Amino acid sequence: MEEPNRKPTFSQFASDNYAGICPEAWRAMQAANNGFVSSYGDDLWTERACEHLRQVFETECQVFFVFNGTAANSLALASLCRSYHSVICHELAHVETDECGAPEFFSNGTKLLHVNGPGGKFDLAEVERVITRRSDIHYPRPKVLSLTQATEVGTVYTPDEIGAASELAKRYGMRVQMDGARFANAVVSLDVAPAEMTWRAGVDVLCLGGAKNGMAVGEAVVFFDRELAHEFDYRCKQAGQLASKMRFISAPWIGMLEGGAWLENARHANGCAALLEQHLAGIDGVRIMYPRQANSVFVEMPETVVAALRSAGWHFYSFIGSGGARFMCSWQTTESDVLQLAEAVRTECKEVHVIKTATFEALLSDAVPDGQGGYNFTLEGKTYHLQDKDDVRKIAETHGYIIIY
Ligand SMILES: Cc1ncc(COP(=O)(O)O)c(C=O)c1O
Repeated sequence: MEEPNRKPTFSQFASDNYAGICPEAWRAMQAANNGFVSSYGDDLWTERACEHLRQVFETECQVFFVFNGTAANSLALASLCRSYHSVICHELAHVETDECGAPEFFSNGTKLLHVNGPGGKFDLAEVERVITRRSDIHYPRPKVLSLTQATEVGTVYTPDEIGAASELAKRYGMRVQMDGARFANAVVSLDVAPAEMTWRAGVDVLCLGGAKNGMAVGEAVVFFDRELAHEFDYRCKQAGQLASKMRFISAPWIGMLEGGAWLENARHANGCAALLEQHLAGIDGVRIMYPRQANSVFVEMPETVVAALRSAGWHFYSFIGSGGARFMCSWQTTESDVLQLAEAVRTECKEVHVIKTATFEALLSDAVPDGQGGYNFTLEGKTYHLQDKDDVRKIAETHGYIIIY
């Protein structure tokens, strides 16, 4: 079969979803491609994958495999709520901004209530205010606190922060769901056991990401409270999320978990983002927007730089979070990709800085009479003494300005 004739997408930092399938997941899928095997999850591959996840989380959790993160989040939330309940999440949460209303759809109307907070993490005082602001029958009753780990802007909640959020939620009879599309990146960033960041910190259900971590497709919905998983299999089936050839969804988890590739991939992606952050931070005109704690770097840059990078073929998003450009690294990103991107940003920022314009009128208005017939004129922190006001033109030109008349 011929490969599609398309420009290679190596110069991309748009998403960890752009990456291919990592060798460990690929080999496991290939190993599962052997003869006839029972369908719909009634197979040894699926059993082994679930067992691996129980070992990773050090508990007898109940595990389900679905095709994608939207389904994992939506179905998990739906299983925790009734239609008249509400879910509290951060205003930048994927469930709120990027799931096309699927959580509300699958829960038959459960409302998402959002709160803000710096760095993509909610402010607990805000959460409590939203929980308690009303208790009347007209208000959708808060039932779940949903947090994303790592967050949509590449920060992470510490186990203590998760514990405090859970404690608050439980105080009001609520459940805790975690969107862990980039859970592995958070695990290696914090260097803590997965159990510490989840059930030991009060998380009831985790939607664990596989695709961004290096698999072709598939997320695991992990119920730490097994009772909450009651009839979840029916929910998956009804939503079209029960794979008939389940072994090809579940076997890659074995490949990822048994040798630690899931953590290695995340460590590599985080390391690339750290390298990128280090290089971008030193460039004039670039501002790092959030502390980089996982595999993405968010930056503010001049619009002209953004446009020039795009037309040079670099792929990145600027609609995620609260603006700025998001550079996302994956298991497949290389150090050379990172250095090339940093160099491209540096070059474009330099270009921007040499094209400086000023109106002649504005320059003249900056020439202040010195009281002795001359003028003081300050430009870029340097002060000049002028006899003739029109000399602002020459000085601005020596600073590299293009003067507009
Ligand atoms: C934070 C977060 N949650 C969940 C998802 C999963 O979404 P999808 O339905 O595209 O697999 C994503 C994907 O971008 C994400 O960034």
